[in-house]
Amino acid sequence: MQVFHHIKNLRQVLKAERMAGKRIGFVPTMGNLHDAHLELVRSARQTCDIVVCSIFVNGLQFGLNEDWDKYPRTFASDCEKLRSVNCDYLFHPDDNEMYPNGLEHQTRVICPTMTDVLCGASRPGHFEGVTTVVTKLFHIVEPDEAVFGIKDYQQLAVIRRMVEDLCMDIEITAAPIHREQDGLAMSSRNGFITEEERPRVAVLYQTLSWVSDEIKGGNKDYSELQSKARAKIEAEGFRVDYFNICNSKDLEMAAFDDNEITILGAMYTEGARLIDNVSIVLEG
Ligand code: PAF
Repeated sequence: MQVFHHIKNLRQVLKAERMAGKRIGFVPTMGNLHDAHLELVRSARQTCDIVVCSIFVNGLQFGLNEDWDKYPRTFASDCEKLRSVNCDYLFHPDDNEMYPNGLEHQTRVICPTMTDVLCGASRPGHFEGVTTVVTKLFHIVEPDEAVFGIKDYQQLAVIRRMVEDLCMDIEITAAPIHREQDGLAMSSRNGFITEEERPRVAVLYQTLSWVSDEIKGGNKDYSELQSKARAKIEAEGFRVDYFNICNSKDLEMAAFDDNEITILGAMYTEGARLIDNVSIVLEG
């Protein structure tokens, strides 16, 4: 695997690959890689000739009081993991390479729909930071396909929307959520969960699954289900950020006759904010 820190050098190599007719797959990450990230690389490997991964902890998508500075930087072990899944090129720019004019002066990409609800409501500006950096990365790599995890369901929906709105000729692939044995969705932030909390955090997935079973069984009292779900999570000692039953397409609150439903939850542990979701399709 070749590692690049500069846009110019990466572009040169990828231009040659493109001229040779290679299909380029791209997996953007913020590093601290775990099995779920490696699955994204494996997914790109299956459909592309060349796989590019990026590691960049994007300051633009973190709020002032968020964990940008303590976000784990594990470059050496990330490289080893990427080599183990045959990643071809790794792009690892610094802040100056990505934002040479500073964050304040960076031109932004704004997606006006789906970005001020759920995670966007508690993290103002977050999705603007994501769409801006992803656009920049897409311009740098010019991939044929880019792979994102379904764990960040809202991010995936926003990126799909941005790609459509801006006529980007990139196929967006969604990779399934990777879970620990007790159901906890794999995340770079799981390292912030304390030993004492660890046996209890699976309550988020258990509650999402319970609500999903209730809906599949015909319960459509979504507002009561949401309240009960919050109570279950709170009973385990966690503060709920949101627990919403949504229409899978636009992330509006699900209506009685919606068939494609995604249940999304976010809760706070002592040191982390965990998110997860479950999607279901009801027979029409
Ligand atoms: O999902 C992430 O890790 C980040 O939001 C992304 C897509 C790499 C943009 O910084």
